Amino acid sequence: MRLTYTSDVWHKNAVVYCLDVETFKDGNGDGVGDFRGLTQQIDYLAGLGVTCLWLMPFFPTPGKDDGYDITDFYSIDPLLGTLGDFVEFMRTAHDRGLRVIADLVVNHTSDQHPWFVEARSGRDSPRRDWYVWSDEPEPDNKDQIIFPDKETSVWEYDKGSEQYYLHSFYRHQPDLNVGNPEVRDEIARILGFWMELGLSGFRVDAVPFLIENVNPQLAEPHEFLADLRAFMTRRNGGAILLGEVNVPYPDLVRYFGDGLGDQITMCFDFIGMQRAWLSMARGEAAPLAEALRERPKPPKDCQWAMFLRNHDELTLDKLTEDERQEVFAAFGPSEDMQIYGRGLRRRLPTMLGGDLRRVKMAYSLLFSLPGTPVIFYGEEIGMGENLEEEGRMAVRVPMQWSPDGGFSQAEPVREIPGGAFAPDRVNVADQKRDTDSLLRWFQLLIERYRECPELAWGECTVLDTGHPAVFAHRCDADGATVVVAHNLGETAQDVELRLDGLDRYELTDLLVDGTLKVSDDGLARLELGPHGCRWLRASPPEIPPEDASVKAH
Ligand code: NOJ
Repeated sequence: MRLTYTSDVWHKNAVVYCLDVETFKDGNGDGVGDFRGLTQQIDYLAGLGVTCLWLMPFFPTPGKDDGYDITDFYSIDPLLGTLGDFVEFMRTAHDRGLRVIADLVVNHTSDQHPWFVEARSGRDSPRRDWYVWSDEPEPDNKDQIIFPDKETSVWEYDKGSEQYYLHSFYRHQPDLNVGNPEVRDEIARILGFWMELGLSGFRVDAVPFLIENVNPQLAEPHEFLADLRAFMTRRNGGAILLGEVNVPYPDLVRYFGDGLGDQITMCFDFIGMQRAWLSMARGEAAPLAEALRERPKPPKDCQWAMFLRNHDELTLDKLTEDERQEVFAAFGPSEDMQIYGRGLRRRLPTMLGGDLRRVKMAYSLLFSLPGTPVIFYGEEIGMGENLEEEGRMAVRVPMQWSPDGGFSQAEPVREIPGGAFAPDRVNVADQKRDTDSLLRWFQLLIERYRECPELAWGECTVLDTGHPAVFAHRCDADGATVVVAHNLGETAQDVELRLDGLDRYELTDLLVDGTLKVSDDGLARLELGPHGCRWLRASPPEIPPEDASVKAH
């Protein structure tokens, strides 16, 4: 594959690392993570091999939704540092070759944002129309309520101005009205501001809500996304939008910009993620294989963003009730592990019973699936959750740097997990010295993923393995091929794969030592241990495996 493509269209095989400045590293000893602390850890992140950092919201906030409730889009939460600290951080990240994107949370503001304070001050306020008001809101439909533990309606009555305002999420997060051109201009200004300070794009929060819940309805809601993208591209051709769009596949393609790819650059694959968990729960490849077969191809230069866990609940909302119960039973049987009736508030390693072999297989699967992998801080060392924390905060625990925690010299902002996942058992310092650690496994996976751009760029074909527990696929690009196999089951398997067009090729293991030959009639036999995984580079007899992908052009 021509490697120069991967720098122009950098996001297509990036490795995205999501972190919250607040819980990553405390640099000033007040118990709260900050930009100075984060900057000191840049070499750790660069050494891990990730290529793009996604910063969760770092703006001034009353903190009622962990920063997703913003009171000023143009500055930094004073607890996390100053604009000066931010710029120093950006400079250091760029020096180490890391791009940075940040959450763009403009579906709503905090109810304490000066815009909303002004808007609710009276019906004739110049900002009134920046939010969505109604005298008599539509009756609520239960499916609209995102946080059913706290809300019973998406409308809240404002006594002062005697109208209801819309809030798709919590009542303290009034929805902005992008039906108003002034609001759309302001959103572009926010993008422009942070791009000027070096951001390479944004993770766009709650995209479907942003474009749909407005007044008046936009004639063509997707045009707004295309306008935003065009604005961004004018300022920086390489900037991207990474969209939180949890809708069924057939509805999702529109968010990329049907055929044109001129809206959201990368959409999270929520369906693939949920089916991957169902596959892991059953020890069967079929649910994931079906998802990949059904998944539409993103338009040129767009990409799927792959993940297994993020900072929210592990949502299982797109599975059937029975399937959801299967995943609950396998990975979160007790009620305090579940949330909103649709998800789990656990991190991956605890769900897999702390079984390192299984955990390693799960991440090998993640990195090999066609798309751009996105990981949540602490996944690389196998951090657990703290169920004592409320709701989704259970997974947003302080990063574990050393046996004594190493996050802060003071009492940390959030309680550190105890037991088998406490820092004395799970931390960066120990895993750096242990060649068998999860951290080392991540480094290897990331290195190989970057060396095999076919995985992200290529044509993916799910292979028939003849064994229900084995998921295998091949990715082909520009005449180069990578073949990958994962055993989701607990018993070793020998599988025979038909690899059309690869007769007599050599398959070289990329994660361990070993090679095998494809037979004259295109069959390859491979062994997989319990929860085993293999990545194989195919090379024709006359070409060494290390040259089989990156041919000079
Ligand atoms: C999605 C974010 O991921 C979540 O954490 C937040 O609570 C809602 N959007 C509202 O902003």
